[in-house]
Amino acid sequence: MQRLFNKRIVLGVSGGIAAYKSAELVRRLRDAGAEVRVVMTQSAREFITPLTLQALSGHPVHGDLLNPAAEAAMGHIELARWADLILIAPTTAELMARLAQGRGDNLLTTLVLATDAPIAIAPAMNQAMWRDAATQANLQVLLERKVHVFGPAAGEQACGDIGPGRMLEPADIAARAAECFERGLLAGRHVLINAGPTREAIDPVRYISNHSSGKMGFALAEAAAEAGARVTLVAGPVNLPTPPRVERIDVISARDMLAACEMALPADVFIASAAVADYRPIEAADSKLKKDPQSEDGMQLSLVRNPDILATLAARSERPWCVGFAAETHDVLSYARDKLQRKNLDLIIANDVSQPGIGFNSDNNSVTLIDRSLHQQHLPQASKTKLARNIIELIAGQLPARPEGR
Ligand code: PMT
Repeated sequence: MQRLFNKRIVLGVSGGIAAYKSAELVRRLRDAGAEVRVVMTQSAREFITPLTLQALSGHPVHGDLLNPAAEAAMGHIELARWADLILIAPTTAELMARLAQGRGDNLLTTLVLATDAPIAIAPAMNQAMWRDAATQANLQVLLERKVHVFGPAAGEQACGDIGPGRMLEPADIAARAAECFERGLLAGRHVLINAGPTREAIDPVRYISNHSSGKMGFALAEAAAEAGARVTLVAGPVNLPTPPRVERIDVISARDMLAACEMALPADVFIASAAVADYRPIEAADSKLKKDPQSEDGMQLSLVRNPDILATLAARSERPWCVGFAAETHDVLSYARDKLQRKNLDLIIANDVSQPGIGFNSDNNSVTLIDRSLHQQHLPQASKTKLARNIIELIAGQLPARPEGR
């Protein structure tokens, strides 16, 4: 079921007696970590109230194709694009016929036409209707179009008949839905990433900081989420949108960042891409520091060392697999090797920030990965998005198996 983690599922509900089971199906899908948006046909509302499914899914239920308010919130094309899977449970004989004909006369059938996501149906109908030649012909059409068909089960039916046509149980449908997805490289893992700069206050209007934009760390967070991980992103002050399916915690200073990272533990992997300020003023002034108008003397600022977030997490007994970055302007690889050993890391990513067009605040980067056995792998210049996917793939390949019980 880990495959459902972070997956976006549009659950279509059509009007059959099995519609009451959709409530449990929503719960099962959400328990497995999926995000669920429910679309109900008009007749489904006769069997279960939208309010029930809204409460369980945590989102308003979609119903009308031509409702301007609903379209303004999330239009049908947007919903079709949003979905990783469209799952219709129950699917009545009538809806199967409409789908087979490629009709687009209500929101659900329109979504099926408009989406690129896989489509799965869980048929539910009287056994004679299921056996009927027309339904079987519709089934063949849908199977040829690569629609996943879950069930139906055979047994006693609501109408008293016995035979095939019962909708599968919600737990079985959720398990079959999970099989529609490949297992991500980081499925079941918790990846903690920090990104961006920190700001160390001098007074209420001034601070010490650096040029980090957060782009590298945000790209890594997005790539880790794409690989199926649960991702916590602790972000310094940056101006970037949160990547989809990523939990973001905003912080300002190095000490805040350390506290937020420690709070987010346990994690399987910690990637420290943040450019943490090494020093902070001994004390931040409560009010704006004023110049002495009578004097041309400079100003003395006394600094103290900030905690080393990466070294602190790497020194814990139950430590995550720790990946550091080394931003250097010269002797890049030798400083990186030194940081790898000194901070007790599993991997360090050497980043030559003296090169134009890469490093701080640029959209591109080029790095060299060095592991514990000092094996090096250079990743040539590419967009941070592409590079992040590459780095996440390499990390997933090196990650030890999870200890039992976690
Ligand atoms: O944010 P972008 O604009 O996209 O730029 C990306 C980047 C250049 C910031 C990033 O790729 C990078 O190199 N990040 C590390 C920057 C840095 O501070 O390196 P460092 O060599 O000073 O630190 C070594 C490692 O220790 C880093 O993983 C750093 O996060 C960590 N550290 C450092 C100091 C400290 N007090 N606590 C730490 O955890």
